Amino acid sequence: MGENEEILQVRNLQTHFFTDEGVVKAVDDVSFSLRKGEVMGIVGESGSGKSVTNLSIINLIQTPPGKIVGGEILFHGDNLLSMPEKQIRAIRGAKISMIFQDPMTSLNPFLRISTQMIETLRLHQGLSKKMAREKAIEMLTLAGIPAAEERIDSYPHQFSGGMCQRVMIAMSLSCNPEILIADEPTSALDVTIQAQILDLMKGLTDRLGTAVILITHSLGVVAGMCDTINVMYAGRIVERGLTADIFENPRHPYTRGLIKSVPRLDKPNSERLFSIPGQPPNVIDLPSCCPFFPRCSEAQEICKTAYPGDTDFGNGHFAACWNGGKP
Ligand SMILES: Nc1ncnc2c1ncn2[C@@H]1O[C@H](COP(=O)(O)OP(=O)(O)OP(=O)(O)O)[C@@H](O)[C@H]1O
Ligand SMILES: [Mg+2]
Repeated sequence: MGENEEILQVRNLQTHFFTDEGVVKAVDDVSFSLRKGEVMGIVGESGSGKSVTNLSIINLIQTPPGKIVGGEILFHGDNLLSMPEKQIRAIRGAKISMIFQDPMTSLNPFLRISTQMIETLRLHQGLSKKMAREKAIEMLTLAGIPAAEERIDSYPHQFSGGMCQRVMIAMSLSCNPEILIADEPTSALDVTIQAQILDLMKGLTDRLGTAVILITHSLGVVAGMCDTINVMYAGRIVERGLTADIFENPRHPYTRGLIKSVPRLDKPNSERLFSIPGQPPNVIDLPSCCPFFPRCSEAQEICKTAYPGDTDFGNGHFAACWNGGKP
Protein backbone atom coordinates (compact mmCIF):
# COMPACT_ATOMS: atom_id res chain seq x y z
CA MET A 1 0.00 0.00 0.00
CA GLY A 2 1.37 3.38 -0.99
CA GLU A 3 1.35 6.25 1.49
CA ASN A 4 -0.84 8.26 -0.83
CA GLU A 5 -3.37 5.55 -1.43
CA GLU A 6 -6.99 6.67 -1.15
CA ILE A 7 -8.49 4.10 1.20
CA LEU A 8 -11.95 5.64 1.28
CA GLN A 9 -13.76 7.40 -1.53
CA VAL A 10 -17.17 8.90 -0.98
CA ARG A 11 -18.75 9.75 -4.32
CA ASN A 12 -21.89 11.83 -4.79
CA LEU A 13 -23.42 10.56 -1.56
CA GLN A 14 -27.07 11.47 -1.02
CA THR A 15 -28.79 10.50 2.20
CA HIS A 16 -32.35 11.68 2.64
CA PHE A 17 -34.98 11.29 5.38
CA PHE A 18 -38.57 10.81 4.29
CA THR A 19 -40.63 12.55 6.97
CA ASP A 20 -44.25 13.74 7.22
CA GLU A 21 -43.03 17.30 6.74
CA GLY A 22 -41.19 16.47 3.54
CA VAL A 23 -37.89 15.09 2.29
CA VAL A 24 -34.94 16.11 4.48
CA LYS A 25 -31.92 16.24 2.18
CA ALA A 26 -29.49 15.75 5.04
CA VAL A 27 -26.60 14.87 2.72
CA ASP A 28 -26.83 15.96 -0.87
CA ASP A 29 -24.09 15.12 -3.33
CA VAL A 30 -21.13 14.86 -0.98
CA SER A 31 -17.81 13.60 -2.34
CA PHE A 32 -14.40 13.34 -0.67
CA SER A 33 -11.58 10.90 -0.34
CA LEU A 34 -9.39 9.94 2.54
CA ARG A 35 -5.78 8.83 2.20
CA LYS A 36 -3.94 6.32 4.34
CA GLY A 37 -3.05 7.99 7.64
CA GLU A 38 -4.71 11.31 6.72
CA VAL A 39 -6.46 13.31 9.44
CA MET A 40 -9.49 14.97 7.87
CA GLY A 41 -11.83 17.41 9.54
CA ILE A 42 -15.51 17.88 8.76
CA VAL A 43 -16.74 21.20 10.13
CA GLY A 44 -20.09 22.93 10.04
CA GLU A 45 -22.95 24.21 12.14
CA SER A 46 -25.52 21.96 13.76
CA GLY A 47 -27.70 20.17 11.21
CA SER A 48 -25.28 20.57 8.29
CA GLY A 49 -25.11 16.80 7.73
CA LYS A 50 -21.81 15.87 9.38
CA SER A 51 -23.12 12.93 11.41
CA VAL A 52 -25.40 11.63 8.67
CA THR A 53 -22.44 11.60 6.23
CA ASN A 54 -20.42 9.46 8.59
CA LEU A 55 -23.26 7.21 9.69
CA SER A 56 -23.83 6.54 5.98
CA ILE A 57 -20.22 5.38 5.62
CA ILE A 58 -20.70 2.65 8.20
CA ASN A 59 -24.24 1.92 7.11
CA LEU A 60 -25.90 2.96 10.36
CA ILE A 61 -28.62 5.17 8.91
CA GLN A 62 -31.95 4.42 10.47
CA THR A 63 -34.16 3.10 7.66
CA PRO A 64 -36.96 4.25 7.56
CA PRO A 65 -37.10 7.24 7.68
CA GLY A 66 -33.56 7.54 6.28
CA LYS A 67 -32.29 6.14 2.99
CA ILE A 68 -29.10 6.45 1.03
CA VAL A 69 -30.61 7.41 -2.30
CA GLY A 70 -27.48 7.92 -4.33
CA GLY A 71 -23.74 7.61 -4.56
CA GLU A 72 -20.99 5.18 -3.73
CA ILE A 73 -18.75 4.62 -0.74
CA LEU A 74 -15.63 2.79 -1.82
CA PHE A 75 -13.41 1.21 0.82
CA HIS A 76 -10.29 -0.07 -0.93
CA GLY A 77 -12.36 0.07 -4.10
CA ASP A 78 -15.28 -2.02 -2.81
CA ASN A 79 -18.65 -0.29 -2.58
CA LEU A 80 -19.84 -0.53 1.03
CA LEU A 81 -23.35 0.37 -0.10
CA SER A 82 -23.78 -2.80 -2.10
CA MET A 83 -22.11 -5.14 0.38
CA PRO A 84 -24.13 -7.72 2.31
CA GLU A 85 -24.74 -6.72 5.96
CA LYS A 86 -22.55 -9.57 7.21
CA GLN A 87 -19.54 -8.25 5.32
CA ILE A 88 -20.19 -4.69 6.53
CA ARG A 89 -20.32 -5.94 10.10
CA ALA A 90 -16.83 -7.38 9.73
CA ILE A 91 -15.57 -3.97 8.59
CA ARG A 92 -17.47 -1.84 11.09
CA GLY A 93 -15.67 -1.71 14.42
CA ALA A 94 -12.63 -3.53 13.08
CA LYS A 95 -11.42 -1.73 9.95
CA ILE A 96 -13.55 1.40 10.32
CA SER A 97 -14.36 2.27 13.90
CA MET A 98 -16.24 5.15 15.40
CA ILE A 99 -16.26 7.26 18.57
CA PHE A 100 -19.38 9.24 19.39
CA GLN A 101 -19.88 12.41 21.39
CA ASP A 102 -21.44 10.64 24.32
CA PRO A 103 -19.43 7.57 25.32
CA MET A 104 -22.45 6.24 27.18
CA THR A 105 -24.18 5.57 23.88
CA SER A 106 -21.39 3.18 22.92
CA LEU A 107 -20.51 1.64 26.27
CA ASN A 108 -22.90 -0.86 27.80
CA PRO A 109 -23.51 0.35 31.39
CA PHE A 110 -24.20 -3.20 32.62
CA LEU A 111 -20.96 -4.76 31.44
CA ARG A 112 -17.44 -4.37 32.79
CA ILE A 113 -15.01 -2.60 30.44
CA SER A 114 -13.00 -5.84 30.32
CA THR A 115 -15.99 -7.83 29.05
CA GLN A 116 -16.77 -5.25 26.35
CA MET A 117 -13.19 -4.91 25.11
CA ILE A 118 -12.34 -8.59 25.25
CA GLU A 119 -15.48 -9.56 23.33
CA THR A 120 -14.69 -7.12 20.54
CA LEU A 121 -11.08 -8.28 20.30
CA ARG A 122 -12.06 -11.94 20.24
CA LEU A 123 -14.72 -11.35 17.62
CA HIS A 124 -12.67 -9.23 15.24
CA GLN A 125 -9.12 -10.40 15.88
CA GLY A 126 -9.73 -14.01 16.87
CA LEU A 127 -7.58 -13.63 19.99
CA SER A 128 -7.73 -16.04 22.95
CA LYS A 129 -9.35 -14.66 26.08
CA LYS A 130 -5.98 -14.20 27.78
CA MET A 131 -4.40 -12.45 24.81
CA ALA A 132 -7.44 -10.26 24.31
CA ARG A 133 -7.25 -9.15 27.95
CA GLU A 134 -3.55 -8.35 27.60
CA LYS A 135 -4.19 -6.38 24.44
CA ALA A 136 -7.08 -4.49 26.10
CA ILE A 137 -4.87 -3.55 29.08
CA GLU A 138 -2.13 -2.41 26.71
CA MET A 139 -4.58 -0.17 24.82
CA LEU A 140 -6.05 1.31 28.03
CA THR A 141 -2.52 2.08 29.24
CA LEU A 142 -1.69 3.76 25.92
CA ALA A 143 -4.87 5.79 26.30
CA GLY A 144 -3.62 7.08 29.65
CA ILE A 145 -5.79 5.03 32.04
CA PRO A 146 -3.77 4.63 35.24
CA ALA A 147 -3.57 1.12 36.78
CA ALA A 148 -5.28 -0.28 33.70
CA GLU A 149 -4.83 -3.90 34.82
CA GLU A 150 -7.21 -3.17 37.72
CA ARG A 151 -9.41 -0.49 36.20
CA ILE A 152 -10.26 -2.75 33.28
CA ASP A 153 -12.71 -4.67 35.48
CA SER A 154 -14.68 -1.53 36.39
CA TYR A 155 -18.08 -0.59 35.02
CA PRO A 156 -18.44 2.51 32.80
CA HIS A 157 -20.10 4.62 35.55
CA GLN A 158 -16.98 4.21 37.68
CA PHE A 159 -15.07 6.43 35.23
CA SER A 160 -15.29 10.21 34.84
CA GLY A 161 -16.46 11.62 31.49
CA GLY A 162 -12.90 12.25 30.33
CA MET A 163 -11.76 8.78 31.42
CA CYS A 164 -14.74 7.20 29.64
CA GLN A 165 -13.71 8.98 26.47
CA ARG A 166 -10.18 7.55 26.93
CA VAL A 167 -11.71 4.08 27.29
CA MET A 168 -13.65 4.68 24.07
CA ILE A 169 -10.46 5.71 22.27
CA ALA A 170 -8.68 2.59 23.56
CA MET A 171 -11.60 0.44 22.50
CA SER A 172 -11.97 1.97 19.08
CA LEU A 173 -8.26 1.61 18.30
CA SER A 174 -7.84 -1.86 19.83
CA CYS A 175 -8.51 -3.72 16.58
CA ASN A 176 -6.06 -1.44 14.77
CA PRO A 177 -8.62 0.06 12.39
CA GLU A 178 -7.57 1.77 9.17
CA ILE A 179 -10.07 4.56 9.74
CA LEU A 180 -11.30 6.13 12.96
CA ILE A 181 -14.40 8.29 12.68
CA ALA A 182 -14.65 10.59 15.70
CA ASP A 183 -17.97 12.46 15.89
CA GLU A 184 -17.65 15.42 18.29
CA PRO A 185 -15.54 13.21 20.56
CA THR A 186 -14.88 15.93 23.11
CA SER A 187 -17.77 18.36 22.99
CA ALA A 188 -19.30 16.94 26.19
CA LEU A 189 -16.08 17.58 28.12
CA ASP A 190 -14.67 20.73 29.63
CA VAL A 191 -12.06 22.65 27.67
CA THR A 192 -8.86 21.45 29.38
CA ILE A 193 -9.94 17.80 29.19
CA GLN A 194 -10.96 18.33 25.55
CA ALA A 195 -7.43 19.38 24.66
CA GLN A 196 -5.93 16.39 26.47
CA ILE A 197 -8.24 13.92 24.75
CA LEU A 198 -7.57 15.41 21.31
CA ASP A 199 -3.81 15.29 21.94
CA LEU A 200 -4.13 11.69 22.99
CA MET A 201 -6.16 10.80 19.93
CA LYS A 202 -3.71 12.56 17.64
CA GLY A 203 -0.69 10.91 19.28
CA LEU A 204 -2.14 7.40 19.16
CA THR A 205 -3.49 7.58 15.62
CA ASP A 206 -0.19 9.07 14.36
CA ARG A 207 1.68 6.24 15.95
CA LEU A 208 -0.66 3.55 14.63
CA GLY A 209 -0.97 5.14 11.19
CA THR A 210 -4.77 5.34 11.50
CA ALA A 211 -6.62 7.71 9.19
CA VAL A 212 -9.08 9.91 11.08
CA ILE A 213 -12.29 11.70 10.15
CA LEU A 214 -12.85 14.26 12.89
CA ILE A 215 -16.29 15.83 13.02
CA THR A 216 -16.73 19.04 14.95
CA HIS A 217 -18.54 22.40 15.13
CA SER A 218 -15.32 24.20 15.75
CA LEU A 219 -12.65 25.20 13.28
CA GLY A 220 -10.49 25.81 16.35
CA VAL A 221 -10.48 22.09 17.11
CA VAL A 222 -9.57 20.99 13.59
CA ALA A 223 -6.83 23.61 13.21
CA GLY A 224 -4.34 21.78 15.38
CA MET A 225 -5.36 18.25 14.41
CA CYS A 226 -6.21 17.95 10.75
CA ASP A 227 -4.26 17.77 7.50
CA THR A 228 -7.34 18.62 5.44
CA ILE A 229 -10.68 20.28 6.14
CA ASN A 230 -14.12 19.92 4.58
CA VAL A 231 -16.59 22.66 5.43
CA MET A 232 -20.22 21.50 5.29
CA TYR A 233 -23.29 23.65 4.86
CA ALA A 234 -26.87 22.44 4.35
CA GLY A 235 -25.90 18.91 3.35
CA ARG A 236 -23.05 19.85 1.01
CA ILE A 237 -19.33 20.43 1.18
CA VAL A 238 -18.91 24.11 0.34
CA GLU A 239 -15.15 24.32 0.73
CA ARG A 240 -12.32 21.84 1.08
CA GLY A 241 -8.56 22.05 1.16
CA LEU A 242 -5.39 21.66 3.15
CA THR A 243 -5.77 23.10 6.65
CA ALA A 244 -3.17 25.81 6.01
CA ASP A 245 -4.89 26.91 2.77
CA ILE A 246 -8.31 27.03 4.44
CA PHE A 247 -7.03 29.25 7.25
CA GLU A 248 -4.73 31.45 5.18
CA ASN A 249 -6.95 31.79 2.15
CA PRO A 250 -10.56 30.91 2.95
CA ARG A 251 -12.56 31.25 -0.25
CA HIS A 252 -16.15 30.75 0.87
CA PRO A 253 -17.86 33.52 2.88
CA TYR A 254 -19.22 30.81 5.20
CA THR A 255 -15.72 29.53 5.95
CA ARG A 256 -14.59 33.09 6.61
CA GLY A 257 -17.48 33.46 9.05
CA LEU A 258 -16.53 30.24 10.83
CA ILE A 259 -12.91 31.38 11.12
CA LYS A 260 -13.99 34.74 12.54
CA SER A 261 -16.06 32.94 15.16
CA VAL A 262 -13.11 30.94 16.56
CA PRO A 263 -12.13 32.41 19.96
CA ARG A 264 -8.70 34.03 19.76
CA LEU A 265 -6.28 33.99 22.69
CA ASP A 266 -4.34 36.92 21.24
CA LYS A 267 -7.34 39.28 21.12
CA PRO A 268 -8.57 41.26 24.13
CA ASN A 269 -11.49 39.66 25.96
CA SER A 270 -13.61 42.76 25.60
CA GLU A 271 -14.01 42.15 21.86
CA ARG A 272 -17.26 40.29 21.27
CA LEU A 273 -16.92 37.03 19.42
CA PHE A 274 -18.25 37.13 15.87
CA SER A 275 -21.16 34.88 15.02
CA ILE A 276 -22.54 34.35 11.53
CA PRO A 277 -25.88 36.20 11.32
CA GLY A 278 -29.05 34.23 10.67
CA GLN A 279 -29.85 30.55 11.03
CA PRO A 280 -28.81 27.48 9.06
CA PRO A 281 -31.49 26.70 6.50
CA ASN A 282 -34.16 24.10 6.87
CA VAL A 283 -32.99 21.23 4.70
CA ILE A 284 -36.56 20.30 3.75
CA ASP A 285 -37.42 21.63 0.29
CA LEU A 286 -34.17 23.53 -0.13
CA PRO A 287 -34.22 25.80 -3.18
CA SER A 288 -31.71 24.94 -5.89
CA CYS A 289 -29.72 28.15 -5.38
CA CYS A 290 -26.82 28.76 -3.04
CA PRO A 291 -28.29 27.87 0.39
CA PHE A 292 -26.00 30.38 2.11
CA PHE A 293 -27.16 33.46 0.17
CA PRO A 294 -29.70 34.74 2.76
CA ARG A 295 -26.86 34.99 5.30
CA CYS A 296 -24.14 36.10 2.94
CA SER A 297 -22.98 39.73 2.89
CA GLU A 298 -21.46 39.23 -0.55
CA ALA A 299 -24.47 37.67 -2.30
CA GLN A 300 -25.24 38.74 -5.86
CA GLU A 301 -28.26 38.14 -8.07
CA ILE A 302 -27.00 34.82 -9.45
CA CYS A 303 -26.58 33.38 -5.93
CA LYS A 304 -30.38 33.42 -5.62
CA THR A 305 -30.98 31.48 -8.80
CA ALA A 306 -28.54 28.59 -9.12
CA TYR A 307 -26.20 26.44 -7.04
CA PRO A 308 -22.57 27.40 -7.67
CA GLY A 309 -20.21 24.77 -9.08
CA ASP A 310 -16.83 24.12 -7.45
CA THR A 311 -14.05 26.59 -8.26
CA ASP A 312 -10.61 24.94 -8.22
CA PHE A 313 -7.88 26.97 -6.51
CA GLY A 314 -5.22 24.31 -6.96
CA ASN A 315 -3.59 22.01 -4.42
CA GLY A 316 -6.92 20.29 -3.73
CA HIS A 317 -8.54 23.55 -2.62
CA PHE A 318 -12.13 23.95 -3.86
CA ALA A 319 -15.01 26.23 -2.96
CA ALA A 320 -18.60 26.39 -4.19
CA CYS A 321 -19.25 30.12 -4.43
CA TRP A 322 -20.43 32.33 -7.30
CA ASN A 323 -17.96 35.00 -6.29
CA GLY A 324 -15.23 32.63 -7.41
CA GLY A 325 -13.77 32.84 -3.95
CA LYS A 326 -12.79 36.50 -4.15
CA PRO A 327 -12.22 37.70 -0.63
N1 LIG B 1 -33.74 10.25 11.89
C1 LIG B 1 -33.89 11.43 11.29
N2 LIG B 1 -35.10 11.82 10.82
C2 LIG B 1 -35.27 13.00 10.20
N3 LIG B 1 -34.28 13.89 9.99
C3 LIG B 1 -33.05 13.56 10.43
C4 LIG B 1 -32.79 12.33 11.12
N4 LIG B 1 -31.47 12.30 11.44
C5 LIG B 1 -30.95 13.46 10.99
N5 LIG B 1 -31.89 14.22 10.40
C6 LIG B 1 -31.71 15.55 9.81
O1 LIG B 1 -30.60 15.54 8.95
C7 LIG B 1 -29.92 16.79 8.99
C8 LIG B 1 -28.45 16.55 9.25
O2 LIG B 1 -28.29 16.01 10.55
P1 LIG B 1 -26.88 15.64 11.16
O3 LIG B 1 -27.15 14.87 12.40
O4 LIG B 1 -26.01 15.00 10.15
O5 LIG B 1 -26.29 17.08 11.52
P2 LIG B 1 -24.87 17.42 12.18
O6 LIG B 1 -24.13 18.27 11.20
O7 LIG B 1 -24.21 16.18 12.65
O8 LIG B 1 -25.34 18.34 13.39
P3 LIG B 1 -24.78 18.40 14.91
O9 LIG B 1 -23.58 19.29 14.83
O10 LIG B 1 -25.90 19.03 15.65
O11 LIG B 1 -24.46 17.02 15.37
C9 LIG B 1 -30.60 17.62 10.07
O12 LIG B 1 -31.49 18.50 9.44
C10 LIG B 1 -31.36 16.59 10.86
O13 LIG B 1 -32.51 17.15 11.44
MG1 LIG C 1 -23.81 15.42 14.55
